[in-house]
Amino acid sequence: MMRLSICRSPDGALSKHGFIGVFDSGLGGLSVLREIRQLLPGEDLVYVADSAHVPYGGHDDAFIRGRGLAIGGFLAAAGASILVVACNTATAAAVPALREHLTLPVVGMEPAVKPAAAATGSGIVGVLATVGTLRSARFAALLDRFGSDIGVLTEPCPGMVEAVENGALQTEETRELVTRHVRPLIQGGADVIILGCTHYHFLRPLIEAAAGPDVTVIDTSSAVARQVAARLGKSPGGGGGGQRFMTTGSAERLQPVLEMLWPGAGSIETLSDL
Ligand code: DGL
Repeated sequence: MMRLSICRSPDGALSKHGFIGVFDSGLGGLSVLREIRQLLPGEDLVYVADSAHVPYGGHDDAFIRGRGLAIGGFLAAAGASILVVACNTATAAAVPALREHLTLPVVGMEPAVKPAAAATGSGIVGVLATVGTLRSARFAALLDRFGSDIGVLTEPCPGMVEAVENGALQTEETRELVTRHVRPLIQGGADVIILGCTHYHFLRPLIEAAAGPDVTVIDTSSAVARQVAARLGKSPGGGGGGQRFMTTGSAERLQPVLEMLWPGAGSIETLSDL
């Protein structure tokens, strides 16, 4: 059994009651957090952005697994009642290890190949994702299960995670980058595009503009939120749940982008020794 190095917050537990612990390589997982917040307004949420190591897509599986175990171990020790891996790349690399080493429920996510296969009229589906997700055995297994009757075009998208981390959601440079990644999918006949990375949600307007009105864009964040609610046995309801945002990187650098993506977020905290 691997030993986890646990970094405790200054005040010990992060919430008096259990909380929903969510992490991503950076801020992309806020797209999942937003759906969880909408569905479960009374829950406390703690979000960790592993900004010191973003993008995960550029690291190997063992490294990403180690990061998942460190952050998952921290959130579990701090009192999380469930762990949400709001990152397709980390799910592919780390979820089996997290389930093996942690006792709390772990919810991961993967590109929505099954709903895309049901939605396509042309029989061709495009997947935008990181190199890490697309090379993973988990993604290959997903294609075997749900993609065998359709054509699947995959497009790794270096630069798109960084654009979101920098808050460059609407710049001309980002528009060109997105168009470059979307165009081959459309030219290949895809009429459904899967957002296979939680960061890409924040570039959805540019992706939809590049794809055109006849293309359906699918992401999985609301399905993940429903799965979290089901695993917790909670139904939607009122309440005043709080949220805390933490980063392994520079809080100062991240703060303005956090506020852009989550207005009213408040101050992001630094996890310096994680
Ligand atoms: N948000 C992560 C995902 O869903 C991005 C991974 C990365 O940092 O490369 O895959």
